[in-house]
Amino acid sequence: MSSPPVPRPPSPVSAVNLAEKFSRIDDFWHPRIVGALNGQLVKVARLQGAFDWHHHADEDELFLVVRGTLRMEMRDETVTIAAGEFYIVPRGVEHRPVADDEVHVVLFEPASTLHTGNVVTEKTRTSLEWI
Ligand code: NI
Repeated sequence: MSSPPVPRPPSPVSAVNLAEKFSRIDDFWHPRIVGALNGQLVKVARLQGAFDWHHHADEDELFLVVRGTLRMEMRDETVTIAAGEFYIVPRGVEHRPVADDEVHVVLFEPASTLHTGNVVTEKTRTSLEWI
């Protein structure tokens, strides 16, 4: 399953300020696009609570934590990702991100990746906007 094409805004003429981007987000588990390169999207999201178990058959997924501590639960192990750290969930591995307290993440993944992977839940967003 892939997302519809996302219109790309003109190239910014200034650096992207992550704090400013996060300040424009007022909900959880709803990624916004802040960059695109080489077929990959750079997304930001605020997370709180537990997401849904899912996997991505063909895509690795990078989570860079910039605030808080994210727990990446997988069937056989759990990886704790602190601010300033990242973790790449390998393709095919079932995972469930959990944020006991609020977490801000930057995601790098192919434009085709749906954040809920192989499942569709009430959290699934099929078209993401640029901010
Ligand atoms: Ni995922």
